[in-house]
Amino acid sequence: MSPYAHITGWGMAVPERVLTNHELATMVDTSDEWIRTRTGICERRIASEDQTTASLATEAALRALAVAGLNPADVELIIVSTSSPEHTFPATACIVQDRIGATKAGAFDLLAACTGFIYALNMAAQSIRSGSVKNALVIGAETLSRLVNWQDRNTCILFGDGAGAFVLQAGEERSGVLSSVLRSDGSGSDLLTLPAGGSALPASLETVRDGLHYIHMNGREVFRFATRVMTQATLEAVARANLSMDDIQLIIPHQANQRIIEMAARSLNFPMERCVMNLHRYGNTSTASIPIATCEAAQQGRLHPGDKVVFVGFGSGLTWGAVVAEWSAPFSAQRREYPTRYRLYARVRSALLRLLRRLDTLIDALVWDRRQRD
Ligand code: ACO
Repeated sequence: MSPYAHITGWGMAVPERVLTNHELATMVDTSDEWIRTRTGICERRIASEDQTTASLATEAALRALAVAGLNPADVELIIVSTSSPEHTFPATACIVQDRIGATKAGAFDLLAACTGFIYALNMAAQSIRSGSVKNALVIGAETLSRLVNWQDRNTCILFGDGAGAFVLQAGEERSGVLSSVLRSDGSGSDLLTLPAGGSALPASLETVRDGLHYIHMNGREVFRFATRVMTQATLEAVARANLSMDDIQLIIPHQANQRIIEMAARSLNFPMERCVMNLHRYGNTSTASIPIATCEAAQQGRLHPGDKVVFVGFGSGLTWGAVVAEWSAPFSAQRREYPTRYRLYARVRSALLRLLRRLDTLIDALVWDRRQRD
């Protein structure tokens, strides 16, 4: 029988710096009242200069591994979902792999904007279901504050920085990820986009001058799309898991806008008290919002082994999707793990590997030189 992908670890990391609506109102023509009533957001976290998508992702990953009691060397797959990667390449996931010392892991980034964590969760779960890996790390991480135009009130009020991670592990019992629905509609790709910096519009003086390296959004259209697809995706994923909405204890939605979530809950006839909400404190952290909300729900004791949960999101692409999962617990009898130590080992290991690579290049050059002279 195919193994199931149990969620056995979870962790989050957010920057310490809080940016309130009141502070934003001193930067652009807006008000705390406007932002709160239109979005539900009161404040968001902003990465400091030395924090990046990879550093937040690493922190969240180590915390998730500690909850799971899993050594980084046992991780076989790392997926980082992000729209604000460390670089265009290499993948942010490879940087995380190096920093946590996951010596046996394949690592890649996945881009499905705010729906990314749903996509990544599905991909990792399928890898476990197929038997190709036993332990996987799924991370959603963003520093969208670096991509926002701080003079554009349409977008700068919405986004925040942060990261969240799940550990998935193979288990025989039917639990963990039970079903998923992934959808896209590229005809809406212009509704939420960062136009320049790719092959269509490589970076140039003009692209910088015209502000094309910032997020551009048609908020009204995204809103209309979101309210439609949240309900659809939830119902479809629940049906695919052979469940009904009555079986669902919690919905953990992408934290984009309180009104979108309220409308979806109303049309699902699902009580808002059972929708996890924290966007008032973090804003829209894009692909990180679902794992961050999950971590907080777990910390608050709102998730119990056996609970059926829907993770549902939407975003640029356009993309949308949902995953139904049965909440698992960390596997019992696992060792106590030491994330801080792993970070240190990984740093030493990485420095040694870099040194060895340099020595190797030097020796090769010397040998080549000698051969030429002979
Ligand atoms: N402060 C004050 N006024 C503002 C602000 C602001 N921050 N932003 C816009 N306005 C003004 C507009 O200029 C407009 O004025 P006008 O009528 O004179 O032209 C008015 O407020 C109404 O603007 P709308 O865009 O219609 O406002 P709306 O009620 O739709 O709220 C919002 C805007 C909050 C952006 C909403 O449309 C929304 O949340 N959309 C979804 C966005 C979203 O979720 N994006 C993330 C997707 S996930 C991802 O992939 C990253």
